[in-house]
Amino acid sequence: MTKQFTIIVAGSLVSKDSDLNSGSSITKYGIGYKNTIPWMGKLPNDMKHFREVTTGGVVIMGRKTYQSLPGCKPLPNRKNIVISTTLANNIKGITVCTSFEDALKEATNDDDNLKIFIIGGQQIYNEALQNPNCNKIILTQVYPTNLESQFNFDTWFNFDYKNWKTITQSHPSIIDNKNIFSFEIHVLEKIQV
Ligand SMILES: NC(=O)c1ccc[n+]([C@@H]2O[C@H](COP(=O)([O-])OP(=O)(O)OC[C@H]3O[C@@H](n4cnc5c(N)ncnc54)[C@H](OP(=O)(O)O)[C@@H]3O)[C@@H](O)[C@H]2O)c1
Repeated sequence: MTKQFTIIVAGSLVSKDSDLNSGSSITKYGIGYKNTIPWMGKLPNDMKHFREVTTGGVVIMGRKTYQSLPGCKPLPNRKNIVISTTLANNIKGITVCTSFEDALKEATNDDDNLKIFIIGGQQIYNEALQNPNCNKIILTQVYPTNLESQFNFDTWFNFDYKNWKTITQSHPSIIDNKNIFSFEIHVLEKIQV
């Protein structure tokens, strides 16, 4: 049986729409632009949080997200799985899987106790959200400082918030000379029906 897993994502809220006909309530967060994260290098405290949460576990990512990592190197102290149909399977420090399901199986092949984190990007988040074993989202909500610092996006994290409930929500973080945007960390759990 496949284990439950967590999505971890940082995004800036773009829109929140309710559709009375379909009953859906889609929340859209911008997450990337030109294969990078718009606040890359500008929120080290969120990177620290990401590192602390995922260290010791398994991180599953899409090929484009892998290629956007600094130096295209695997994340240290985590089992790195990349989903791709084009990447060679002999890159040191990563395991390549050709489907989302294979990645989930591979995640706990050696050790069934490892926590599994889906770390992006848009294509992989979409697949994760459709999977019944996705039961948690750790979402960093990033706030642009002012109108001039609005972000550009070409990739998004869209989820139906009526299926999720917020378990914890941090206070807005303090802006300083290294962390130039404020953010909040929300932990959401899937509402079981
Ligand atoms: N803000 C955040 O928290 C966050 C986190 C991660 C990423 N991002 C951003 O998200 C953007 C990248 O997202 P993306 O959607 O363009 O790319 P992606 O999801 O990272 O990777 C897409 C690639 O994954 C592979 N793939 C996806 N589904 C597959 C499947 N079912 N079977 C086999 N392979 C599959 C394909 O690789 P092949 O073409 O090799 O087959 C596909 O081209 C970047 O801008 C990145 O910076 C943001």
